[in-house]
Amino acid sequence: SSSRLFVAGIYAADLVFAAQRLPSLGETIQASGFMRSHGGKGSNQAVAAARAGADVCFFTLIGDDAFGEDARALWRNEGVRSLARVIPGQATGAAGIFVEESGDNAIVVYPGACRTMGACDLEMVEAEIAAAKVFVIQLEQPVEAALRGLELARRHGVITVLNPAPACPLPEALFPLCDYILPNESEASRLTGLPAETPTQAEAAARALLSKGVGSVVMTLGDRGSLFCNSETSFTVAAHKAGACVDTTGAGDGYTAGFATALAQGRSPRQAMLFATALAGISVTRRGAAASMPTRAEIETALAAMAQPPQ
Ligand code: RIB
Ligand code: NA
Repeated sequence: SSSRLFVAGIYAADLVFAAQRLPSLGETIQASGFMRSHGGKGSNQAVAAARAGADVCFFTLIGDDAFGEDARALWRNEGVRSLARVIPGQATGAAGIFVEESGDNAIVVYPGACRTMGACDLEMVEAEIAAAKVFVIQLEQPVEAALRGLELARRHGVITVLNPAPACPLPEALFPLCDYILPNESEASRLTGLPAETPTQAEAAARALLSKGVGSVVMTLGDRGSLFCNSETSFTVAAHKAGACVDTTGAGDGYTAGFATALAQGRSPRQAMLFATALAGISVTRRGAAASMPTRAEIETALAAMAQPPQ
């Protein structure tokens, strides 16, 4: 369909430990809580987009193991059309997540079968990419897969969105393939070698990404909202506080999914940022990554409550 989203990336079984603080090296501490939940940036974005009302196709690689079975059940239940391929002898992704009382986290993620995702895997789903309105990918699988996916999407006139998370060195050829790049401050800093902590620094880092050939930069700034920057204009959208922050895991995924969903449905970048802000603002008030993503009705309610700046 013309409003379809194609998301590629990893699935990970998240093993989430709540603790007062992170353990230090060589130390054992007791957790105050434990939960297994669905994660992986790509899968989180696919689930968030489906809940937000998008028609979503998700491509990934999984193992023939219990985590992979769980992943397929998740996509079935969430109405995500899965193009997942099972790679015999490989594991499904998994992540160890430590959440402190503040809601902040530290994560170690193993991409499992997705470690082998390459250009040819994306070529196998070229027809599905071509049928989408918006293509979304992150960096938890090899960069070659992201590069080829973006190239194929661009070839077919599909709007391209890169969430460069986690940040890693990128070939210069990748930047001009991005209609939109959605880094957070630290990712923007890693990609440009510039600090991105103050508003002035964030805008300078965004301009450095533009000079690499990116169409538009949408930088998330935590509780300071998000910044839009292209060759014509720049503006910020304020964050939305929907309640007490209990777990920021997946907030960036929610933001990316909300932005892409709204774009696929024909909204302007500013409107898409507001939609993404509402989605992410709700997700941090709930535990888990995929589990914390709101429904479209919840997003619309939050949007109505947010002060709408002039369009
Ligand atoms: O963005 C959050 C996600 O990053 C978690 O769900 C974890 O699986 C890691 O991939
Ligand atoms: Na959350």
